[in-house]
Amino acid sequence: MSKQSNIKNKIKEQYGKIALADGSLSCCSASSGCCGTTEALISPIESSKTVGYDQNELKSIPQSSILGLGCGNPSTFAHIKEGDVVVDLGSGAGIDVFIAANIAKDKGKVIGVDITDAMLEKARKNAEINGYQNVEFRKGDIEQRIPVDDNSVDVVISNCVVNLTENKLNTFKEIHRILKSGGKGKMVISDLVTSREIAANSISTDSWCSCIDGALTKEHYIDIIKKAGFTNIEILDEKLYMELDEAKDKEDQEKIQITSISIKAVKR
Ligand SMILES: C[S@@+](CC[C@H](N)C(=O)[O-])C[C@H]1O[C@@H](n2cnc3c(N)ncnc32)[C@H](O)[C@@H]1O
Repeated sequence: MSKQSNIKNKIKEQYGKIALADGSLSCCSASSGCCGTTEALISPIESSKTVGYDQNELKSIPQSSILGLGCGNPSTFAHIKEGDVVVDLGSGAGIDVFIAANIAKDKGKVIGVDITDAMLEKARKNAEINGYQNVEFRKGDIEQRIPVDDNSVDVVISNCVVNLTENKLNTFKEIHRILKSGGKGKMVISDLVTSREIAANSISTDSWCSCIDGALTKEHYIDIIKKAGFTNIEILDEKLYMELDEAKDKEDQEKIQITSISIKAVKR
């Protein structure tokens, strides 16, 4: 089996376990292999506050959608409006879908897309129990094809997911395809970037699932967004997320800094 399909299978396995654990398995142990805070004994709610969610915002959504897997709060910067069509990529248990749905209200629609069945099931249950009529969760691999029509979306959001994809240019091209054209569609994404890229020979599937080994430098990340056709690219927020204790490879003993960024780009 190739390293590529290994990574995707591992992502589904790890995030599936987290969905099924119902909040009892977090990213606190490095061995859990997922994105999210590595601080020990921190609850998903506390972890979400550290990356930028507001307490009242968290209270306004289904509590079991909060898994502490994000690295920012894209909706804060997205200026979503009532009536907007919003798509959340790698929606997990639905945290950002429900926040966006509270803003887009009944005239709007929010679609969450995820590759992991157990996450989709959890998110759909959250929507049903809490009576959300304006949300839908669809299965899809965002780097292959986002299951949404061309030119149909006002805002694409995503929280700590694009770094998990192997072909980031395809992912951004897919986002570009579904956004409305003529400056009407934008993406606002929170993600992790690194101070230097991880050498191919030291990439591990566990560390890829933890949102580290698949992360690019900020410059490379922005370059790919431009190549996908976006304009008006702006960094809206930037925070040191963590520093790797050990050098990833023998040649470079420099510590690698992992930074959380929130970035906006517009489809012309
Ligand atoms: C770090 S979690 C973030 C979940 C959610 N955004 C949050 O903040 O709670 C990553 C999510 O992306 C999903 N995912 C990873 N790769 C994906 C892909 N290629 N296509 C769709 N979903 C993907 C995983 O199943 C998981 O639910």
